[in-house]
Amino acid sequence: MNDVLAAELGEVRATLARQKSRVLVASGVRPERRDAPPTFPTTATLADPALRAAAGTAGVAVTAHGGTFAGAALDRGTRFLLTTADRWPTDVTDAVDLGCGTGLLAAVLALRSPAARVVATDRSAAAVASARATARANGVADRVVVVRDDAGEGLADASADLVVLNPPFHDRAAVRTDAAHRMFATAGRVLRPGGELWTVFNTPLRYRAALARAVGPTEHVAQDPRFTVTRSVRG
Ligand SMILES: C[S@@+](CC[C@H](N)C(=O)[O-])C[C@H]1O[C@@H](n2cnc3c(N)ncnc32)[C@H](O)[C@@H]1O
Repeated sequence: MNDVLAAELGEVRATLARQKSRVLVASGVRPERRDAPPTFPTTATLADPALRAAAGTAGVAVTAHGGTFAGAALDRGTRFLLTTADRWPTDVTDAVDLGCGTGLLAAVLALRSPAARVVATDRSAAAVASARATARANGVADRVVVVRDDAGEGLADASADLVVLNPPFHDRAAVRTDAAHRMFATAGRVLRPGGELWTVFNTPLRYRAALARAVGPTEHVAQDPRFTVTRSVRG
């Protein structure tokens, strides 16, 4: 860590150790770094076939501020979810990208359904800034509203026909599934009767029963040893 910090910061010193820990104190920007162009946000145009097929475009642009999930790239779980997009409902007026990260799924929802309004929501400020930039980069910012929110709690009841979800399995540094379960409850509340939740998760997590309780009848649509995609229909 001393070397990592010293690459960017002028002075790095360590305090005396206490049990197994030391505090590193770093200060001042290295002179040669002071005028360097910022490394974030990063932007890329992704041409992955699953992404292109889902969006119905030649590529999808993504912008990522530092610390946003997957950066300016396509996560493997998100990609697996996108391989099922030909079965997502098409007659969509209101869609939600819950835990949107860079907003790649929100952009796909807006691109594939030109009449749809999309709400993208995430707890992370970096994700919210990224999702807004991703919507602008794809020319859909007029139909994608990005909201900073905890597990979509501020979304209105019965306000969506389609929710897509690649839920978190970390809460900062800890492996936890609480946020995922809260998002399932949000999806159940936010979907209109007959509306659908499409979720991707790591196969060992076995979320199907929890999804059925929170939303309604849930089927496995696609599965490999690593990921499962489910479709839940709001009763
Ligand atoms: C697995 S990532 C998926 C991101 C994006 N949908 C994608 O497919 O690339 C999960 C996202 O949930 C967000 N998240 C984690 N806990 C949350 C919470 N309590 N409320 C809202 N968003 C949360 C994370 O910041 C992260 O962007």
